[in-house]
Parts: sequence; C-alpha cells; structure tokens
Amino acid sequence: MYNEIDLDKIDINSEPPTEEPVRQYYFMAKCRRYVTELAKELGRKPTFFVQTFGCQMNARDSEKLTGILEQVGYAQAESEEADFVIYNTCTVRENANNKVWGRLGYLNGYKKEHPHMKIALCGCMMQEAEVIEKLRKSYRFVDLVFGTHNIYKFAELLTGSFTQKKMLIDIWNDTERIVENLPVERKYNFKSGVNIMFGCNNFCSYCIVPYVRGRERSRRPEDILEEIKKLARDGVAEIMLLGQNVNSYGKNLPEPVTFAELLMKIEEVEGIERIRFMTSHPKDLSDELIKVMADSRKICNHLHLPLQSGSSRILKKMNRQYDKEQYLALADKIRRAVPDLALTTDIIVGFPGETEEDFEETMDVVRRVGYDSAFTFIYSKRTGTPAAAMEDQVPEDVVKERFDRLLKEVQRIAAKRAEALTGRTEQVLVEEVNAQDKTLVTGRMGNNFVVHFPGTEHLIGRIVNVKLKECKGFYFYGEMTV
Ligand code: SAH
Ligand code: SF4
Ligand code: F3S
Repeated sequence: MYNEIDLDKIDINSEPPTEEPVRQYYFMAKCRRYVTELAKELGRKPTFFVQTFGCQMNARDSEKLTGILEQVGYAQAESEEADFVIYNTCTVRENANNKVWGRLGYLNGYKKEHPHMKIALCGCMMQEAEVIEKLRKSYRFVDLVFGTHNIYKFAELLTGSFTQKKMLIDIWNDTERIVENLPVERKYNFKSGVNIMFGCNNFCSYCIVPYVRGRERSRRPEDILEEIKKLARDGVAEIMLLGQNVNSYGKNLPEPVTFAELLMKIEEVEGIERIRFMTSHPKDLSDELIKVMADSRKICNHLHLPLQSGSSRILKKMNRQYDKEQYLALADKIRRAVPDLALTTDIIVGFPGETEEDFEETMDVVRRVGYDSAFTFIYSKRTGTPAAAMEDQVPEDVVKERFDRLLKEVQRIAAKRAEALTGRTEQVLVEEVNAQDKTLVTGRMGNNFVVHFPGTEHLIGRIVNVKLKECKGFYFYGEMTV
C-alpha cells in the first residue's frame, strides 16, 4: 500500500510528480519539513484539531485529513485550542452553516492571542459561491479554504499554505477523479467507514448535496475489496459502506456491478464480521439486494430507508420517484424477507405546499411501518435548489407544531418496538467504556440499538452475547452471557 511509502526516500528538491497519489506523498514529504521547523520554534510537536460538522461521509473525509496531518508530523489535540484547526463543514440545512459561522467568530478571538495558529475550512459548505464571497470579505484570518472535489490534494494545499502567507482558496466545481491509496487515520480500531461511491444524481428538489458533492461516481470493486481486506488485517470487525445512495452503486463503472454483487464479495472477506451500509434510496432497492440481505450472515439486520414524506403529492414535488403505496409495499416486503429487521428513516416536515392532510399521510406511514428510530428534520430552504423557489412555503409556527407532533409519535413507536426486545439475547459489538459509569461498557447490536452492561475495557472491539434486561426507551441495560 502507498501509505507505507517512506517519506524519507522522497527527493523533495526534485520537481513534483504529476501522477496521483505519488504527487501527494511528495507534498507530504515537503510539508513535513515545514512542520519540523514549526516544531523547533514551538519546542514541541504542533497540534491539530479536525471538527466534523456533517454526515458519515464528512466524518470519513475528516479521517483522511487526520491521516495526512499525522504523516506530516502534527499531533492530535483534544480541543480547538490547537496550532491548526480544520472545520470540515456541512450545508444540508441552514443551521449547519450557522454553527460554522458562530464557531469561526470564537476561533478568530483565539487566533488573535495565538498568531502562529492556522485555520482551514473545507467540506460541502465551501462549494457555495456566496460562502466563499463572505469569507473573502470578512474572514481574512482563515488561512486555507478548499472544497469536496479537491480534498485528495490536501497535502499539496497544506504545503501551499506554509509558503503563501495570505488566504489560500482553491475550490473546484466538479471532478471525475477518485484518488486511491492516500493515508487515513481511523477514529476506532474495530470499525470503519468505507466509501463506495461519491456524489449524487438524484436531485431531490429540497437537497443541496448533488450541487456540493457533484455527480455520482463509484469506486472500482477491486479497490473497495482491497481496502476492506486491509481493514480486516488491521483488526476491523465492522464496516459501514458509505454513499448518498448505495443502491445505485456500480451503474457507471466500465464493467457495471450491482450493490448486491458487491455485498456478496465483501461477505467473503475473512475477519469482517458485520456489514452495514448507508444510505438506501427506496427507488433503487432491488429484490436482488433484499435477497442478499436475507441470505447474508454478516449484513446487519438494520436498514435506513429515508421516507422524507408520506404524501404521494409531496413526494412527487420532492422528486423522490416513489409514492406512498410503493414505499409501504417495499417496507412490508423487506420486513417479511429479513426477520427482526430494524427499519429507520429520515423525514422532512414543512416542505413547501405541505398541508395538514399531507402531514397526516406522513403520520400514517410512520404508524403503519413502525420505525425503530427516525431522524426528523424541519424543512430548510437551500438556495439554488428547486424547492427554494417554490411558492407556498409553510409558516414557521405550523411547521413547528407538526414537527413536535411527529417527534412524539416517532418516539412513542420506537420505544414500544424497543421494549419488545427486552429479554432477548443479542450479539453486541463492544465500542467503549461507559462515560458516566466506568463499571459498564457500551455496545451496539446488529439492529443498531445500544446496550450498556457490566464489563471492562478489554472487551472493546469484541462481539459478545448480551441479554437485554431493561429497556430505557432508546437503549438497554443488559448482562453478558456465554
Ligand atoms: N443521501 C441520503 C441523505 C442525505 S442528507 C438520502 O437520500 O437519504 C440526510 C437527510 O437530510 C435527508 O435524508 C433529508 O431527510 C434531510 N435533508 C436534506 N435536505 C434537507 C433540507 N433542505 N431541509 C431539511 N432536511 C433536509
Ligand atoms: Fe439529497 Fe436526494 Fe441525493 Fe439523498 S438522494 S443526497 S436526499 S438528492
Ligand atoms: Fe452535509 Fe455534505 Fe454530508 S452537506 S450531510 S456533509 S454530504
């Protein structure tokens, strides 16, 4: 693997290579020089802090940034009081942006007291022209700004920010490129995300993701498998396959492969015990995939299947390409094929034109499907998306009232479904020592529910049997059994 390349063997006085990822290793070697100099000035290793604001894909990108920062000689800090702070931003809803602006204000104050400090911004929010404008105008204290398409060039950009004193901004509109074999530092030893595709072609009318992440492109199955085999060798037991719409994986490859076929290959990787994936779009969830899920020993009995709305009229305006009946039929089919399946979802309340009747249709689906958990969101207007230009935006107080009603119902149903699991014995992957009570460890079942039970640190990363003794709504207390 390239991440075992010895940076010392790279001649940084030669011209940078043009091919990737070798070019980025050249810049890592070069950058390491600057970091070493900085360390001499500081009398210690410089520190960094990466803050993730968005989804699992955003989090995986942060792990890639971390991998490079560690290669070039930075040490990870526990807080933003670090020599280098990176905000990996999200822009899916307005409040995601607001968080970034708020925290940048705080960082500015900190930087004034620590002038050698470096600040970088990257991620989805940086793909918006008005954000870049605002940064240029009023946030000159930021050192480096890049986007989602050129994140693979981080080592090169970082090197640039050492030689250029003023704000360095590099944003691309799109890319076809997928660069493999760059370093990555995992947050957990025993589980890992694995990107299988990037971007999205669905253009749901409310959603900004296709504009900030570009068109759908899939990694080659052999590259994915090689990465997973390496993770297994490193002791990873659980992987989460990541993509905006994993069900459409492989369609654009020179030799098309279906997501179900990819899953079957991954199933054979020795050492991998659990396979999860996110997110599934109902329009692309094939019978072939349902069968693979039903037959698999390793695929977890959990499916995240975003509903967004239960009203066929609103679904059409959202450009979701399924209607209420099709969704209900699909949920029913999967539940019958995969016993004990936990179904979770995303729901948006207050999409333009949503009436009380439309909202009641959503409530109806929620009751009929019986979700094990649901993320509920208040519709947020995203500039540039078709829905932002739609008339009849729903008044705030109406949306808030519906949102509260939905949340209550979702929680009531989820708690009831969880309660029904009490008494069962489940396989649990132990993730950490409980932060509040150090005599307990916390783990996750295949259905994604969390359980706390007596145990010690040495169980972390192991899969053990736990009897569920008491249900606390969204989590359980249990006891290990043999
Ligand atoms: N690709 C995934 C998830 C993308 S974003 C999917 O299609 O399911 C995660 C969730 O954010 C979406 O499922 C949706 O429920 C929510 N979301 C996206 N855009 C939104 C907006 N403008 N307002 C409110 N919620 C939104
Ligand atoms: Fe957004 Fe729809 Fe793509 Fe999900 S599938 S990222 S909601 S456009
Ligand atoms: Fe946010 Fe980008 Fe993910 S907008 S939800 S971080 S793809």
